[in-house]
Amino acid sequence: MNHPTDNTNVPAPAPTGDAPSRYFVTSFGCQMNVYDGERMGEMLNAQGMQAAATREDADLVILNTCHIREKAVARVYSDIGRLKREDGSKPMIAVAGCVAQAEGGEIARRAPSVDIVVGPQAYHRLPQLIEQARSGKAAVDTDMPAVTKFGALPARSKQPRPSAFLTVQEGCDKFCTYCVVPYTRGAEISRPFADLVEEARALVDGGVKEITLLGQNVNAWTGNDGKGRLQGLEGLIEVLADLSGLERIRYTTSHPNDMTDGLIAAHRDVPKLMPYLHLPVQSGSDRILKAMNRSHSAASYLAIIDKVRAARPDIALSGDFIVGFPGETEADFEATLDIVRNARYAQAYSFKYSSRPGTPAADMEDQISPEIMDERLQRLQDLLNAQQREFNQGSVGERTRVLLERQGRRADQLVGKSPWLQSVHVVDPNARIGDLIDVEILSAGPNSLEGTSLSMVTA
Ligand code: SAH
Ligand code: SF4
Ligand code: F3S
Repeated sequence: MNHPTDNTNVPAPAPTGDAPSRYFVTSFGCQMNVYDGERMGEMLNAQGMQAAATREDADLVILNTCHIREKAVARVYSDIGRLKREDGSKPMIAVAGCVAQAEGGEIARRAPSVDIVVGPQAYHRLPQLIEQARSGKAAVDTDMPAVTKFGALPARSKQPRPSAFLTVQEGCDKFCTYCVVPYTRGAEISRPFADLVEEARALVDGGVKEITLLGQNVNAWTGNDGKGRLQGLEGLIEVLADLSGLERIRYTTSHPNDMTDGLIAAHRDVPKLMPYLHLPVQSGSDRILKAMNRSHSAASYLAIIDKVRAARPDIALSGDFIVGFPGETEADFEATLDIVRNARYAQAYSFKYSSRPGTPAADMEDQISPEIMDERLQRLQDLLNAQQREFNQGSVGERTRVLLERQGRRADQLVGKSPWLQSVHVVDPNARIGDLIDVEILSAGPNSLEGTSLSMVTA
């Protein structure tokens, strides 16, 4: 028993504020943040809280933030400012995600209305942090506990959508010189095989038809299959493909260095694995790739693409690009345009380099001016957009299977995804969200396709 003067176990001050009962989560950044946001919500539901319909209705607002580029961070602070209400009150504010990890308690000093700061590896402790914050003092938790959050989170509940995310791998050991992710998400970990199969089964039992496996380097995932074999991502994909009711499997984001022959072969051998590959290259210049610490070359990247296309000729290729990395010359940039012409993308993301505090590239000489970055981004995006239009145009006249995901803008319209991740708009009064229907594609825009339902024609 504690002696009355023993202060090693001082209880937290008694909560004074009301316990929040309605939460609202906004996730920025990558799909993993979306997944984390959903799991936070499920955990708060298990605590007896409810999701609010809007931010204004909530007494706990969680901003699940992204630190990848400067703009993403600036947005968080402007969002915090906007949470103050006309009558001067405000909800309890929690900053979660990668900005929380990178800036920690500094956030609450800069924005005193913030009550909770919680990093991406500590959000299973949100209920305790909420209790602490009720005493009026900011509660900060940016631990990266050795035991991962996954074991502490409640089992998955029924999902509102037919397509769900499932984090299988987290963290990054690659240390590209421009990138904050190794610092905000920590070292690479792979979740255990059995846990993933169980989570996938729970999702499918709840009506999910498509699962996208997530990881910062998803193809670095490894796990023991329970039969004494160490498996790569393709081993997990093969087992998930046996789940009846699961129709489609995707994975993102892959790193070129972890693109094994086994995973490439899965694109040929596993029909439920969709013909889509997001494989960032960042630059087409070997000099810049070296300065980025990417540890692959333009040629080795293209060789991977050749192998993937040999295994699955119709694969839709996607990528990420950075223009204006320190020292990038016009010739380096033209090498990026060349690799795009060679690789031929169905879809891609391109960004202006953003200097991130604490990364090696932030201290490199020869930072590129905003004007040059703007001009290069425009030229790159013109080329990528033309490739995307061409890819979509190639679908016109084809019959394709579409997983219906949501209501369209028009009342009679449904929107789904083709195997190649194109959005397809279709009218079919007999179909429902979650159905897989056959569609003939009639026209293509830059970002979506329009088709007619073949099940309706034959009905
Ligand atoms: N782990 C993934 C993606 C990480 S972040 C991968 O390696 O592919 C997503 C994308 O953001 C990166 O692929 C990169 O294109 C971009 N990005 C990362 N840091 C950036 C920075 N400092 N400035 C601009 N873009 C950046
Ligand atoms: Fe960032 Fe590179 Fe890791 Fe991707 S591989 S998360 S770009 S450090
Ligand atoms: Fe952003 Fe963190 Fe994802 S920095 S891109 S939310 S891993």
